[in-house]
Amino acid sequence: MTLQRLPAGAPPLATVQTIGEHEGTEVTIRGWLFNLRSSGKIAFPQVRDGTGVIQCVGARKELGDEAFEALTHLGQESSLVVRGMVKADPRAPGGYELRITGLDVLQDVQGYPITPKEHGPAFLHDHRHLWMRSRRQHAILRIRHLAVQAIRNYFDSRGFVLVDSPIFTPNACEGTSTLFETEYFGRPAYLTQSGQLYQEAAAMAFGRSYCFGPTFRAEKSGTRRHLTEFWMVEPELTFADLDDIMDMAEDFLVECVAYVLEHGRPWLVELERDISKLEAIQKPFPRISYDEACKMLVELGEPVEADDDFGSPHETVLTQQFDRPLMVYGYPTAVKAFYMKEQPDNARRVLGVDVLAPEGYGEVIGGGVREDDLDVLLKKIQEHKLPQEYFEWFLDLRRYGTVPHGGFGMGLERFVTWVCGIPHIRETIPFPRTITRLTP
Ligand code: 4AD
Ligand code: MG
Repeated sequence: MTLQRLPAGAPPLATVQTIGEHEGTEVTIRGWLFNLRSSGKIAFPQVRDGTGVIQCVGARKELGDEAFEALTHLGQESSLVVRGMVKADPRAPGGYELRITGLDVLQDVQGYPITPKEHGPAFLHDHRHLWMRSRRQHAILRIRHLAVQAIRNYFDSRGFVLVDSPIFTPNACEGTSTLFETEYFGRPAYLTQSGQLYQEAAAMAFGRSYCFGPTFRAEKSGTRRHLTEFWMVEPELTFADLDDIMDMAEDFLVECVAYVLEHGRPWLVELERDISKLEAIQKPFPRISYDEACKMLVELGEPVEADDDFGSPHETVLTQQFDRPLMVYGYPTAVKAFYMKEQPDNARRVLGVDVLAPEGYGEVIGGGVREDDLDVLLKKIQEHKLPQEYFEWFLDLRRYGTVPHGGFGMGLERFVTWVCGIPHIRETIPFPRTITRLTP
């Protein structure tokens, strides 16, 4: 069904995306003026309607002088309703053009700030609310939408129950250095860094669960990979070991990339993405231990300090060695969160995995097996100097029916950055929040 009515007698409403279905008929398109070229007799307005951009043709002879003059003086982003005949034309971008038969102007805009000339990134980010109308930003946000669909489809079709984690929490999940603290009716609270701890409760109730929502980290450095507010999907699986978690991460990424390829090709083409790089994302992904990765890093001339975490340069050179995501497991216990289960044969390494995206993109997924033993977990909470009283509910999960379990978190914007093949994460979220940006 169509959601909106047109005036009686108006030609049926069409969208640019599916305009081919209306070839040879008269339709109505509603949208905004994207671009305009004209001579004294003929005008070529490009109209965008949110689904795409279509080239229109308006002739003075057919429209009459008044309407033709009005059309040729419209500014960029004027809002309008166009009626016209759909004609196949191989020269038109998109393969079709609209021969205008009638036109209503809702608002004639003059002085739209984002013109076809080059603007600097600061100016564009200041105008993010308008910039998202441009082709490239539009394509990126379309891919983001497809990624969200792919993620939900994956878990919904495999018996995972969506159980939303709270955003206000007293629990530091991922260390205390990146917490946003806020006052909560006289008590301190944090904006959540991860929904994981609550997913562990949910998984014990439902067997498998996931959450998908905004998470917050006071990242003090402005890098190309970090936002202070980002969306994370976090599945949690009971009766699972590290291989189960790695299998799930691999299967999930392959399916999500395939879904975007299937449904998002026009947007990837718009972004000039090398699609063969995405078609290469097939199972199996290479799996190497942290210690093996360190040896490779020495050979690649990018050594890591003993038992230190990888930084961006390490991830970049490692992932350039493979055509698909690389799974690195067995990171040093010292650099990972309190809940990670230690390897049974080596307490200095954890049963955790990071999945590093190829082409230098680096970590998109972090996860692993959770410590399921009450006493060990208590000791870890003390070692990490976390306030035990706020973790009592979490400890209950180990008191009442503890089982081996684990999961992972994938940052939506990291995934979209990689799939789009763009250099900076800030373009993958509608309104980015970084150390220097709170507006618009
Ligand atoms: O590796 P992280 O810190 O893992 C967790 O939060 C676990 N609790 C997840 C779990 O097991 N349920 O973060 C997971 C992912 C990273 O791999 C990355 O994709 C993304 O979240 N991420 C960020 N994305 C954008 N900006 C940031 N500042 C990010 N920090 C993490
Ligand atoms: Mg991580």
